[in-house]
Amino acid sequence: MRWMIAVALMALVGCKQQAQETATPAPGGATPPAAQKKLSVGFSQVGAESAWRTAETKSIRGEAEKRGVDLKFADAQGKQASQIQALTSFIAQKVDVIVLAPVVETGWEVVLTQAKEAKIPVILVDRGIKVSDESLYTTLIASDFVEEGRMAAEWLAKQTNGKANIYELQGSTGAAPAIDRKKGFEEALQKFPDMKIVKSQSADFTRAKGKEVMEAFIKSDRDQIQAVYAHNDDMALGAIQALDEAGMNPGKTVTLISIDGVKGAFEAMVAGKLNATVECNPLLGPLVFDTINKVRAGESVPKFIKSQDQLFEQANAAQVISTREY
Ligand code: AHR
Repeated sequence: MRWMIAVALMALVGCKQQAQETATPAPGGATPPAAQKKLSVGFSQVGAESAWRTAETKSIRGEAEKRGVDLKFADAQGKQASQIQALTSFIAQKVDVIVLAPVVETGWEVVLTQAKEAKIPVILVDRGIKVSDESLYTTLIASDFVEEGRMAAEWLAKQTNGKANIYELQGSTGAAPAIDRKKGFEEALQKFPDMKIVKSQSADFTRAKGKEVMEAFIKSDRDQIQAVYAHNDDMALGAIQALDEAGMNPGKTVTLISIDGVKGAFEAMVAGKLNATVECNPLLGPLVFDTINKVRAGESVPKFIKSQDQLFEQANAAQVISTREY
């Protein structure tokens, strides 16, 4: 009998202890981690047109995973309409924050007003927008594209002793980097009257289009082409292929400069085919989520959080290529 009472008492104590363990709050009275709601972020990405963009997607996705963020990712395949649709869906799902890499600069008022009314902060990454009411977004985390264009022009002028027929491969029409990289380049060229942009055409930030447009330039202007300015590395790599196929010696008889600083550009510089690239940092993941945390904690953040970019030339490419992360 005595042993039966002892067993019953032990079972009672065990149950009580178990109940206490489940109910005990985390130290400091905080909600236990398992019960905390995950931060949900909707990320609307431009697409996958370039190596740069792939690196940016990887950085943001990787950082979200590391921090346990519920990231809802939408690839717009270069279409603004798809981005508007994605944002509308993020708003309906009541995400905590929206991250937008906008395809083009204009046409965002309606959907961003809806986000504002739903009290969802919008963080722009890598590309800016033009809106009449700047309170429609919280901040822009990006490079200064005008400055990148200026850096490219000044380097090219120095390299060609201020005299060159330039062929320009523009990024996607209406996109901030295409508009601003052209603007900065043209502004800086004003000091050099013998640096002339002979032809300028969009190649949509892709390698295939870069090749196609360069082939057309070669067909019409073969003997005049002295320099190529491409708004991104992928288009320059396509142009190099076209120049190679036409037997035109890229990197030697034709001077090429582009923007981004992707691995492929460094390989082309090491091979002596690309002359220089202006870096544009796509590894924005850590900064994006640090900024989101600040915004959610009620801290004020600058309207433009600017990345620092630098120019790399053939001469130092071999030395730094192994340190490149994208
Ligand atoms: O917005 C950044 C630009 O977009 C990159 O330079 C380019 O490669 C791209 O796709």
